[in-house]
Amino acid sequence: MRKIVVLIAASGLLTVSGLLPVSAGAHEGQKNPEVRYRHFVMESMSNDFAAMAMIFKNEVDRPDEMQVLARSLAESASLIAGLFPAGSEGASALPLIWEEPERVQEASRESAATAAALAEAAAGDDRAALGKAFAAAGAACKGCHERYKAEDE
Ligand code: HEC
Repeated sequence: MRKIVVLIAASGLLTVSGLLPVSAGAHEGQKNPEVRYRHFVMESMSNDFAAMAMIFKNEVDRPDEMQVLARSLAESASLIAGLFPAGSEGASALPLIWEEPERVQEASRESAATAAALAEAAAGDDRAALGKAFAAAGAACKGCHERYKAEDE
């Protein structure tokens, strides 16, 4: 009980100080821990992407941090294949995702592989290659969303 109170207090703090992504509220009514976990892993990849885009567009002068974010993205992307266990149906995930597991595994592998390639490109200094790797990684996310994720949530 005490732990819960502390957690609630802590999350209040995080919200107040703006440390939680705004969209965390989208799953507020969601009680299933696996669904909430999936949400946070997906969001974290999205945040890595957003920060990398800022570096890429020179909105911040932090070229060396590109590879840190890209590695983080690649690590998270390696978790995608396990984010849809039985019993975690719902939220914005379409039922189809539990009906064709092989295709989903393939899409997860594709996303993990393109994210790993992005991490590799980010470690080098070929901007054109980096741009290409960026686009490929983004396309892998988008491809899966188009098939398995509901438009709005
Ligand atoms: C295997 C398919 C698949 C791949 C690959 C995938 N996603 Fe998702 N993503 C989903 C599904 C399905 C949902 C909806 C999950 C839910 O509502 O529980 C989702 C939700 C999200 C969300 C919204 C958060 C939420 O849970 O509502 C973000 C942001 C996101 N994904 C980012 C990414 C990024 C960035 C990548 C690529 C690095 C990626 N996703 C790769 C299937 C995928």
